[in-house]
Amino acid sequence: MQVPVASGEKVTGINFDNAASTPPLRRVRQAVDAFADVYSSVHRGTGYKSRLSTEAYEQARERVARFLNVDESEQVVIFVKGTTDALNRIAAEEARLDGRQVLVTEMEHHADLLPWRHRSGHVMVGLSDDGHIDLDAIEQALKEGQGKISLVAVCGASNVTGFVSPIHEAAELAHRYGARISVDAAQLAPHHRIDVRPPDDPGHLDFVSFSGHKMYAPYGAGVLVAPRDFFEGAPEVMGGGAISIVTWDDTVWADLPDREEAGSPNVIGAVALGVAIETLLELGFDQMLEDEARLGERLLNGLSAINGVGVLGGVQPFPSGRLALASFVIDGLHHGLVAAALSHEWGIAVRHGCFCANPYVFHLLHMSRAEVGAVEHDVTTGHRQSLPGAVRASLAPYNTEAEVDRFLDAVNELARRRMKCTYEQAEDGTYAPAGGWPPIKMMS
Ligand SMILES: Cc1ncc(COP(=O)(O)O)c(C=O)c1O
Repeated sequence: MQVPVASGEKVTGINFDNAASTPPLRRVRQAVDAFADVYSSVHRGTGYKSRLSTEAYEQARERVARFLNVDESEQVVIFVKGTTDALNRIAAEEARLDGRQVLVTEMEHHADLLPWRHRSGHVMVGLSDDGHIDLDAIEQALKEGQGKISLVAVCGASNVTGFVSPIHEAAELAHRYGARISVDAAQLAPHHRIDVRPPDDPGHLDFVSFSGHKMYAPYGAGVLVAPRDFFEGAPEVMGGGAISIVTWDDTVWADLPDREEAGSPNVIGAVALGVAIETLLELGFDQMLEDEARLGERLLNGLSAINGVGVLGGVQPFPSGRLALASFVIDGLHHGLVAAALSHEWGIAVRHGCFCANPYVFHLLHMSRAEVGAVEHDVTTGHRQSLPGAVRASLAPYNTEAEVDRFLDAVNELARRRMKCTYEQAEDGTYAPAGGWPPIKMMS
């Protein structure tokens, strides 16, 4: 897209904010458009369009199952709003297991931390110094938990460092100590083929959650895969479609997945996600990973060569993999200022701040508990300006080496304080060009 920059010209924008959300694939967009013509409510309608929509919705479920290698007699694929919704659903059920706790790592996104903390209770395990998952610490916590830990919750890949987690090794540990594993695959699923493996494999994955909008299908649907025997009693979300029969004083819940999909489902979102998955499989995850690895290496090497730039978690390759993603700081420059200048002067879209993973970013910035306490005090007394953070560039296979080079040039200019404009910080901590951003022209 042509985006306006400070000079008054327009340049071809660079989207390095793919970890937040990805644009729809052209094929997904076309499929949604075509499906809109036949769309009708699913399951209960007898009309032709309703039957066709039901078929498409269930085909999307099969596509998800095939993508993850799910045996649908053991696990159920539930369509949800996204990863946050999926993890909250698990936490709501876990909360019913009195006295059991969920083990989380310091690496987790708030979506994979707060539901456990505030619903089921959690034990948080630390990481290695440079921010990698520490399997020994997980095992130690499981041992100390003495059977009280019912679930280990880990991300498949970090949205801050791009480190890919050893999920099957973590699963083996969880199972060895009588727990299950939940993988927050919001960042992993768009890049890696995931295999949940059969239930008798010690490294199998019990729960997997991800979001359509992070894998080229931004139409509001996400996925929760869970063991069929997990859901007991009344579902967390109740309403139409989730029941078998309701009498004046009795409710009989429907079988899975219907009992966990109360209300009218997001059929178009599910269909879009199914088409995205099929398209990615056709493109080939191995090929995409190869392209991404090349882009990622160029990005990390380039950043590490710029004086005054530090990459969170370092730039070394990681044995279980690393996404083409880097969060970095420039000495002496606020992360919000860097992000504003990249957009305003170079037309480059990135993200900045703590990326909804505060404990992890504090860890990676080597902040002490006292320093974090002082920041907490500032923030709770209305001073967000000092909130620490970093700038994140997250790439997808459609990005190019030329884009990486343009980005590195821009970071280099900023590190040398060669920005052309001045910027002002607002009370909420964000930066904007003095005089304001160029006006947004809404599309009709
Ligand atoms: C690792 C991780 N987990 C969970 C989420 C939450 O995903 P959603 O906002 O789609 O629910 C995100 C989103 O950025 C993420 O990066």
